[in-house]
Amino acid sequence: MIRQTTIALVATVCSLSLTVASANDDPIATRKAMMKNVGASIGVMGKMAKGEMAFDAIQANLAMRAINNAAIGFVHLFPEGSESGGETEAAPKIWEDMAGFIAKSRDMEEVTAEAIAFPAGSLDEMREQLGKLGATCKACHEGYRIKKS
Ligand code: HEC
Repeated sequence: MIRQTTIALVATVCSLSLTVASANDDPIATRKAMMKNVGASIGVMGKMAKGEMAFDAIQANLAMRAINNAAIGFVHLFPEGSESGGETEAAPKIWEDMAGFIAKSRDMEEVTAEAIAFPAGSLDEMREQLGKLGATCKACHEGYRIKKS
């Protein structure tokens, strides 16, 4: 039992360090992939909100967790030198006002952390959480993302 746990732990640590290595190798691709995942997660909740999918408390909670995870790591993927290239939509303002950018990400982190701590038990509750979350996406994109298409 202990041995199995150790093996599982080692495997987890190894895959974690692999993720970090690839993040450093190509921060633009990594942050774009991260945001795509965030988009997919919010999309699931959006479908529920619109009645295109039945409300599922567990799926909603998993989506909030995925976005929370992204919110924590996202801001570390904007090192000097990654201002351009790779079809990035990152606005120069990120590097001019890193503190403001981090604060916007923290808003997303806090809204999702609250949703994880107090999971929506009904569609109405989820809609309310989704509204708050959507506002944090918009608040950051407005200043720190230049949409190319
Ligand atoms: C802290 C700022 C910030 C927050 C908060 C934020 N985003 Fe983003 N988002 C960005 C930036 C910057 C980019 C452009 C990244 C790049 O191209 O390098 C982006 C890009 C995207 C993309 C395009 C990804 C691609 O390249 O295909 C999607 C989709 C997206 N965001 C969805 C969301 C959603 C949904 C939320 C809210 C749940 C959200 N974002 C919250 C900053 C943010």
